[in-house]
Amino acid sequence: MNKNTLQHLAIIMDGNGRWAKERGEKRVKGHEKGAEVVREITNYCANHPTIETLTLYAFSTENWKRPKLEVEFLMQLLDKWLKNELESYQKNGVRFQAIGELSRFSSKLQKRIVDTQEATKDNSKLTQILALNYGSRSEIVGAVNRALKDNQEITEQSIGAYLQTPYSDIDLLIRTSGELRISNFLLWQLSYSELYFTPTLWPDFTPSELDEIIAHFEARERRFGGV
Ligand code: IPE
Ligand code: IPE
Ligand code: MG
Repeated sequence: MNKNTLQHLAIIMDGNGRWAKERGEKRVKGHEKGAEVVREITNYCANHPTIETLTLYAFSTENWKRPKLEVEFLMQLLDKWLKNELESYQKNGVRFQAIGELSRFSSKLQKRIVDTQEATKDNSKLTQILALNYGSRSEIVGAVNRALKDNQEITEQSIGAYLQTPYSDIDLLIRTSGELRISNFLLWQLSYSELYFTPTLWPDFTPSELDEIIAHFEARERRFGGV
C-alpha cells in the first residue's frame, strides 16, 4: 500500500495551563515552555521531506474570555517571541504568516506580525501559519462576504479562495492534552483531514512523538468517500 504524504499539518496546541498547574506553577509558565516547543516542532517540520505548511492554533477568538493578566501575558509573549524568532526563521528557511482578526491586537504587535511576514516572505522550506485571534466561523463568514462583494458566485472554490489561508486541505490535525474537540479551528479546511488526539500536554510534546504520529498517519487508509 502506498504511504500517505503529509504536506499540511495543523496542531491545536493545548494543555499549557495544566502542565504548569501540575508543577505548582502559574499558568503563564506553561505558555513560556509551550513557546519553546513551537520552535522545536517548527524546525522539525522545516527539515521534514514532505511537510510544506504547519498551521498552529495559538490564540482563539474565544481566548479573550481568559483573565486579563493571562491575555496580556500572552500578547507580550507573542511579541517577544516573534522578535527572537526572526533569526531562527531565516536560518531554517521558515516563512511566517498569520491568520485571524489581527486588528484587535496592539499596533505594536500588529507591526511586529506584518514586519515578520515581510522579512520571511522568500523563505521556502516551510510556511508556518500562526492562528491568532482566529475563529473558523468568523473566517468563513468573512470569506463569503468578500466573495459577494466581488460579485463572485458562491461555490466551494470561491469560498475556499477567499479564506485567509490560501486554500489548502489539511492532511493531519493533531490536538494535544487529551481534549477531543476542534474548538472553532479550520472547520472548512478540516473536511477530510485525518485526526489524531494525544494525551500529551503541549509543553511535553516532542519531535519524536510527532515522528510516531506521522508514521501512524502515513499508514492510514484515506478513502475520501471512495472504496
Ligand atoms: C493552550 O493551552 C494555549 C492557549 C490556548 C493560548 P491552555 O492555556 O488552553 O492550557 P489548558 O488547556 O488550560 O491546560
Ligand atoms: C484551543 O484551546 C485554542 C488554542 C489552542 C489556541 P482552548 O483551551 O482555548 O480550547 P477549549 O476551551 O478547551 O475548547
Ligand atoms: Mg486549553
